Amino acid sequence: MTDPTKDLSLEEKASLGSGADFWTTKAVGAVPSLMLTDGPHGVRKQTGASDHLGLAGSEAATCFPPAVGLGQCWDTDLIHRVGEALGREARSLDVDVLLGPGVNIKRDPRCGRSFEYFSEDPVVAGVLGAAWVTGVQSVGVGTSLKHFALNNAETDRMRSSSDVDPRPMHEIYLHAFAHIVRTARPWTVMCSYNRINGVYAAENHWLLTELLRETWGFDGAVVSDWGAVRDRVAAVRAGLDLEMPGTGPASDAEVVDAVRAGDLSQDAVDRAAAAVAGLARRVQPGREAAVTADLDDHHRLAREVAARSIVLLKNDTDLLPLTAGTALAVIGEFAQSPRYQGGGSSHVNPTRLDIPLDEIRAQAGAGTVTFAPGFTTDGSGDAATLRNEAVQTAADAEVAVVFLGLGADQESEGFDRDDIEIPWGQLDLVAAIAQVQPRTVVVLSHGGVLRLQPVADAVPAILDGALLGQAGGGAIADVLFGAVNPSGRLTETVPVRVQDCPSYLDFPGENSHVRYGEGIHVGYRGYDARALEVTFPFGHGLSYTDFEYSEMMVASDETGVVVEVTVTNTGERAGREVVQVYLTKTDSRVVRPPRELKGFATSAVLEPAASEKVSIHVARSDIAFWDERRGDWTVEDGAYVVGVGASSRDLRVTDIVDVTGDEQPVPITWQSTLAEALADPAVAAAMADMLPAGASDGGDALGTDIVKVMGSMPLDRLKRFGMASDALDDLLTTD
Ligand code: BGC
Repeated sequence: MTDPTKDLSLEEKASLGSGADFWTTKAVGAVPSLMLTDGPHGVRKQTGASDHLGLAGSEAATCFPPAVGLGQCWDTDLIHRVGEALGREARSLDVDVLLGPGVNIKRDPRCGRSFEYFSEDPVVAGVLGAAWVTGVQSVGVGTSLKHFALNNAETDRMRSSSDVDPRPMHEIYLHAFAHIVRTARPWTVMCSYNRINGVYAAENHWLLTELLRETWGFDGAVVSDWGAVRDRVAAVRAGLDLEMPGTGPASDAEVVDAVRAGDLSQDAVDRAAAAVAGLARRVQPGREAAVTADLDDHHRLAREVAARSIVLLKNDTDLLPLTAGTALAVIGEFAQSPRYQGGGSSHVNPTRLDIPLDEIRAQAGAGTVTFAPGFTTDGSGDAATLRNEAVQTAADAEVAVVFLGLGADQESEGFDRDDIEIPWGQLDLVAAIAQVQPRTVVVLSHGGVLRLQPVADAVPAILDGALLGQAGGGAIADVLFGAVNPSGRLTETVPVRVQDCPSYLDFPGENSHVRYGEGIHVGYRGYDARALEVTFPFGHGLSYTDFEYSEMMVASDETGVVVEVTVTNTGERAGREVVQVYLTKTDSRVVRPPRELKGFATSAVLEPAASEKVSIHVARSDIAFWDERRGDWTVEDGAYVVGVGASSRDLRVTDIVDVTGDEQPVPITWQSTLAEALADPAVAAAMADMLPAGASDGGDALGTDIVKVMGSMPLDRLKRFGMASDALDDLLTTD
């Protein structure tokens, strides 16, 4: 295949590397113009005014559940199907690249953009994000893996530096990106606005070139987040291929001038031009295929996936599912004005919108359904009157279904929340309702995590809808009445108090720096390490049936660990279980959380008494930790505890597996400590005459444990005290 950039001039190559306008690239020579639009949970194609903040209108498109909801299904096949549908809609609207998925880690529940990300856990974010990418790209539409990297807060996002140590950077924050690049091969990656340890992502050669391309093997185009480029020349030098949106001819001229002045290599410009041309080549078959989108079908899929995304947090006395014919009081403004997506660049203009109240009425059978708003989302009306009316309505019914949540103006791209409270007196409202109506179900709508302890203390049943997209109303009714047995699981912990969050003291940072002080202890890793009570743990979600775990088997080989377990439906309704695998290394030489999710799988729908043998492969790369001493991944040798169960705090079966490690001994130098030196048999032998008899066995003649007392002393300091044996001179290197 001939290279379409081969005969282009320097000016033409430079112009390929910046947008023509807000959403398109330039047509240059044989390379056509391409259209990129948001994403991720629907196509936001703007035909009139353009913006990246969700302000101006866009063409109608199916609004699937945003990642906060979608992720709760934990089902890669389902997400792949959503990806295909998104790809078909994008293609039918002549969109070449859909700007998603967002796989940043939900480090702190106050992040305003939590709704656009999958999880606090890197394996969940990586596996689900990969399914989304392969789904969209299977239709011939590109994806843009974003926001690369460490964009975990909105506050000051265009300047702030995410200051993070190497181990959490690799194990927590880069893991999902690496997994998706390696396994799903996204056609583009979007570099984020923020700085990473002081260097802007767009100008970060280590990030965009050494890690992304050279280590992970990325072969697509690096696109800037909209307006993330400050210095185009520095960005191209670092590895950026496409500046978006276009900022006019001056930007291209800077690139040309820099090459002529010897400040920027011709190779860098060639690489960027080739990457954009490569993207056009990848997109071409999709452009030529006659792809259509059946919007009715997509609405049905949106309903299916929304129902699968709902998490049953609590269901005391089996209050749910409701029986048709029950007299219901539906309370809460969200029942008639649903909150179903987040604000900002991902805001989709839905093709239609299911109203929960209507959908409940449609499934309620002969039962009366009354309604009271209970509160307003804009401060209008008299709060006391609204509340009294709602309490009375609830008291008069057999069951109250109360819709609570966050309003659209309380969380969005562009700013973070100050707290995780449920606003507008909704907590007082639900407490008052629970007083008069013990049979109360709460249905939640929100992007970021909420403080739910008062709700959990007040009512017997809670459904967490997060954000469910345009068909959420029907999906909520399906779960309430049992047409769908819930199988969603939390992808984020619900803490008792925001102050318990591991990141609490370091969010959202100050003076344009965020110190990631909690290190690897993000989300459940941190709550578990400090043995904190939580309201609902990571991975939690109930069902209308019960499952038993048995016949666990673990084995390891050079590819990783295989875990098998049999799941049996021991209840009375058909249902689906999400099986989670957690690993623990109790004798690790590095600090580790008590347990870490390493794999998961969703069962098929199991009829009562039916079983399924579920097999989960944990990749060896997921067992490794980032060894800061070597600047590389290391698998520790020995026993690992494997726990399998229904949540991070509900492990049903455990076993132990032996893994062959690949630890490299760290060479002993004059900077090594006495304890490190004595752990190396050769060096210990050379030091035999240095220490009093018995010292290295735990006590000298006086019973002093010299190694314990002096173990942290470096050998070069011992030498200065005249305590180092000459034999060490031959054995040790200096460093
Ligand atoms: C967001 C991106 C989005 C882009 C284009 C930016 O503000 O951070 O996620 O894709 O705008 O709308």
